[in-house]
Formats: sequence, C-alpha cells, structure tokens
Amino acid sequence: MKEKIEQILHEVKDFQAESKEALEEFRIKYLSKKGVIPALFTDFKTVAPELRKEMGMMLNELKNAVTAKVEEQLERFETQNTSDAGFDMTMPAGEMRGSRHPLSVVRRDINEIFEHLGFTIAEGPEIEDDYHVFTALNFALDHPARDMQDTFFIEKDPNENKPTDVLLRTHTSSVQVRAMEKKQPPIRIIAPGRVFRNEAISARAHCIFHQIEGLYIDENVSFADLKQTLYHFVQEFFGEGTKVRFRPSYFPFTETSAEMDISCNICGGAGCNICKHTGWVEILGCGMCDPNILIASGIDPEKYTGFAFGMGVERIAMLKYGINDLRLFFENDLKFLEQFELS
Ligand code: PHE
Repeated sequence: MKEKIEQILHEVKDFQAESKEALEEFRIKYLSKKGVIPALFTDFKTVAPELRKEMGMMLNELKNAVTAKVEEQLERFETQNTSDAGFDMTMPAGEMRGSRHPLSVVRRDINEIFEHLGFTIAEGPEIEDDYHVFTALNFALDHPARDMQDTFFIEKDPNENKPTDVLLRTHTSSVQVRAMEKKQPPIRIIAPGRVFRNEAISARAHCIFHQIEGLYIDENVSFADLKQTLYHFVQEFFGEGTKVRFRPSYFPFTETSAEMDISCNICGGAGCNICKHTGWVEILGCGMCDPNILIASGIDPEKYTGFAFGMGVERIAMLKYGINDLRLFFENDLKFLEQFELS
C-alpha cells in the first residue's frame, strides 16, 4: 500500500490539466465517492496496527495534495481568458490598426472646414416625405425628379397601387427645409448624410451615396459670400492655388443657380482622362435660395437672403485620391481600404 500511495502522489504532483474538463475528470477520478482516495481509505481499515500511523499520515498527505492540485489548477483557468487558453492579454497590439473609411475621412475633413467658418452640423431623416424632399423646395408637380425612375418610394397605396408619399430622400436638401422650419435666421448649417436614387450601379453611379449640404441665411447674404465661402473650402480641401469657376445652372430651389468646377487636381489643369481633357471638373451645385422656399418655411424673403450648396462625398473623394470606380467605396476590399490607414 505504501508503494501504491507513493506512486499516486507522484502522478498527482506531475499533473497539469489541459482544460477545465480534464481537471474535472481528475477531480472525479481521485476525490469522488467511488474515486481512488475513498477506496484507499477503505483499504486503510485492513492495515496492520503498527503501520497505521505512518499509512494514515501518507493517506492524508495524498488527499491534501489532490485537493491543493485541483484548487491551484482551477485558479489558473479562472485567471485566464477561458475562451482562448493561449491568449495573452499582456502582449503588445502590434502594427495591426484599423483604418478609417475614405468616405469618413473626406466627410470629416469637409465638416471641419465649414465648422471653422461657424457652420454647425444638422441632421434629418433618411426616410422622408414628398413635402420635405420636393414640394417645399419648389419642385413643380410634374418635375422629372419625382418620377419613380429616380425616387425609391417606401409604400404603395394598398387600394390604388400608387406610391404614397413616404420615400427615401434623393438629396440632403430636405435638411435645409427642416432647419428653416425649426429656426429663424441666422441659419448656418451643413448637413452630411446618405441619399438614395434608383440608379443602375456603375463606376460612376450608385443607388446609395453621400452628400453634404450647406445653407446660410441671414440679412444681406449675397452671391459674393457664396463664392468666397466655396473658394475658401476648395483652397483648404484641395490645396492653395486650386482654381474655381462657376457655370450657370438650374435647381428648382435656387435662383440664381450655378455649378462649380475646380481646376483638375489630377493633371493640374493640363488635361487628362478624369477631366476629359478640359482641365476642369465639376464638384458641386449651388445658388441663392429661391424666395419661394423661404416663404414656404415661414422666413421673410424681404428681410433675409441666403445661399445653399450640395456636393457628393464620393465624387470629392474620387478626385482627392484619384479613384476611378465609385463601387470600390462599397465593396469593403481590405486591399483598397488599407491604403487609407494613416489618414
Ligand atoms: N440637391 C442638389 C442635388 O442633389 C444639389 C444642390 C444643393 C444644389 C443645394 C443647389 C443647392 O443635385
């Protein structure tokens, strides 16, 4: 019996549990009612009286060794991350840092430039109604932008199978309307956000994209203020010396309306594929707020004037980084995204 106990003591001392389950098996093997140690205590009853003292001490030593082993190993598992026994929380994180999405970088940089000019960020719902997206912005009832081709309608009238007026906003100009409804001038906001149009997905178009809207209404706001503000934005964002030009355009909610081009930042104005060899690329639409939209939102057009502008974030990002396919922004290909790690 003495040899048997010594041998078991050895086994116990050397034991290292590989998992919590293995430790539990070990505990059952030795300590449970039908386990090795209770069996030895039963055998102990037959030990000769002169050996009893020594054997008793050895048996107690063994029992204590097993109990101590179980406790020690259990503690080891509990202080470790149990879902991954090989995981060392103290290891340095290394160079694997996540990166910002290029659209987030561009949106942040644009926001910051306008925030420095005193614009604040405004938000509005992506699921909108006809009034805020079209009617309040002076879109005539038969304007083609209301056509099902461009707009995603959310619900259909169950009886007539006609679209109802719940829709996904097709531009962030709806946030202008909500800002004017909430507050009298001075209003100076920019509204970044997602917009939706029923377009086929290609290198140049997507059915979901991002815009940043700007609106400034106060006394004596003029077209010169619009030009100066946007000129400043371009110098900050695309670099000193970038040229701008304004071309007459049309939007239902601005009068005068314009589109703004910048000198192509890819070829420096010499002519390339991106600027179609003209040296200029269009980056945004803008104009002076049409008095009708001020009236619709309860603002006196005799007292106040304002300007608005709207730009596509994807387009600006493509020009900034020389990206030629808009789909890359939405594919989440790490080879593409990792290039923006340090931005
Ligand atoms: N909302 C217009 C568009 O989506 C852009 C725009 C905004 C034009 C504000 C003028 C003023 O094309």
